Amino acid sequence: MKITVIGTGYVGLVSGVCFAEFGFNVVCVDNNAAKIAELQNGDVPIYEPGLDKLMLKNSRAGRLTFSVDAKESVKKADIVFIAVGTPSKPDGSADLSYVYKSVDEISSFINEEAVLVIKSTVPVGTTRSVKRFLLDKGVNVDVAFNPEFLKEGAAVEDFMHPDRVILGIESKKAKKILSHVYRPLYVFNTPIVFTDLETAELSKYASNAFLAMKVTFINEMANLCESCGADVNEVAIAMGLDKRIGDKFLQAGPGYGGSCFPKDTSALVDFADKLGVDLPLTKETIKSNNRRRMKMVEKILLACDNDVKGKNISILGVTFKANTDDMRDSPSIDIVNSLIERGANIKIYDPSFSDQARRIFDKVEFSANAYDNCNGADVVIILTDWSEFRALNLGELNGRVKNSLLIDLRNIYTLSEVNASGFSYCSVGRTFKKLESRKDVRE
Ligand SMILES: NC(=O)c1ccc[n+]([C@@H]2O[C@H](COP(=O)([O-])OP(=O)(O)OC[C@H]3O[C@@H](n4cnc5c(N)ncnc54)[C@H](O)[C@@H]3O)[C@@H](O)[C@H]2O)c1
Repeated sequence: MKITVIGTGYVGLVSGVCFAEFGFNVVCVDNNAAKIAELQNGDVPIYEPGLDKLMLKNSRAGRLTFSVDAKESVKKADIVFIAVGTPSKPDGSADLSYVYKSVDEISSFINEEAVLVIKSTVPVGTTRSVKRFLLDKGVNVDVAFNPEFLKEGAAVEDFMHPDRVILGIESKKAKKILSHVYRPLYVFNTPIVFTDLETAELSKYASNAFLAMKVTFINEMANLCESCGADVNEVAIAMGLDKRIGDKFLQAGPGYGGSCFPKDTSALVDFADKLGVDLPLTKETIKSNNRRRMKMVEKILLACDNDVKGKNISILGVTFKANTDDMRDSPSIDIVNSLIERGANIKIYDPSFSDQARRIFDKVEFSANAYDNCNGADVVIILTDWSEFRALNLGELNGRVKNSLLIDLRNIYTLSEVNASGFSYCSVGRTFKKLESRKDVRE
């Protein structure tokens, strides 16, 4: 089985590497020559745990290669996956230009015996329209839609052990080839669901919108907790123990971000609107999540006596979640920029050493570790729940800061442990009380 994957971003690269790990011959293609050169050198251009080792192993085994030129591999491929980006257009709809451009580019080489699989997240009807687009060019190839549900930060694990694989198909050939591709997962009893193209396409958007709503719901409960004295972490535990609800995506925080939830919720609303179907829950989720970031700025300001001008703020973590270098639509962008606008002096430490972050915050100083980042700080703010922030030596940190105030927008500590180290602790959905004599406690 020969596989070509077009697009070597977070999804394409992980998929290509994992398909090679399944034992197939895989060529990963990207039109970004610098990225391909890096990959050919054995360097992984993104931060994704476990990906480097698996990539090296499969490259050495000769099953995995990288190319800027799709022609040779597409000609011989039994299956071609399209995994290019589908970002938001300014009006919120999905920009499908990368999908059509990549399909167009391979249309003259693709073997009609092959199956073309769209893995990019696309609005309902796109895969069928890609089929028509190809037919108009005189190319009759079977198409399928295979949404990807991996999470950045755990992408390899998710790909190798998914909760389910959804396959939108309309031919026996597509069913046969895709069954073969995902056969290695049968050993884990992974549910493999075959359905039609439209259902598979909507399953992806519906899943992301539901998870976005879950995050937004617990954030609303966090607001309520702050006013009524309940603890949102414990409310989330109590809710999550109910198997009908589940404990995932119930962590209160600065709101969702990343390359998927914001754009997918907007695209879902857009294509539903075009069909004349109102989605008020999804619309309110988007609005509530957008408000969330400014709410976090207000929280920070309140904890800082409404004045951050000239204050040294140590930011710990800026990526949209832990274990990734991805900054796309990260809540930190709005929060940090807002603090900069109000005159704060910002220093950032992020364990991914994200190049994207350095480009976004190009005038901000970055540190090599969390402790150095806190030297002389008036406020320490945790924005991303990287594991290494869970075990900070708060006593040592307190020895470095100018003022002992820890604002934790990910709720990774408890009030008692932080207070015991001399810090005042402001978190999300939990009571905040400034310590009277923080320095005394520390000394
Ligand atoms: N990132 C995630 O966590 C995630 C999870 C599930 C689904 N998805 C979906 O998967 C798709 C890809 O997302 P991503 O995050 O991997 O995107 P990405 O931006 O990281 O990667 C896209 C890659 O495609 C390449 N590309 C664009 N046009 C090309 C062309 N014509 N030929 C060859 N290469 C081309 C780009 O250079 C880039 O490397 C999107 O539709 C996204 O919604 C993403």
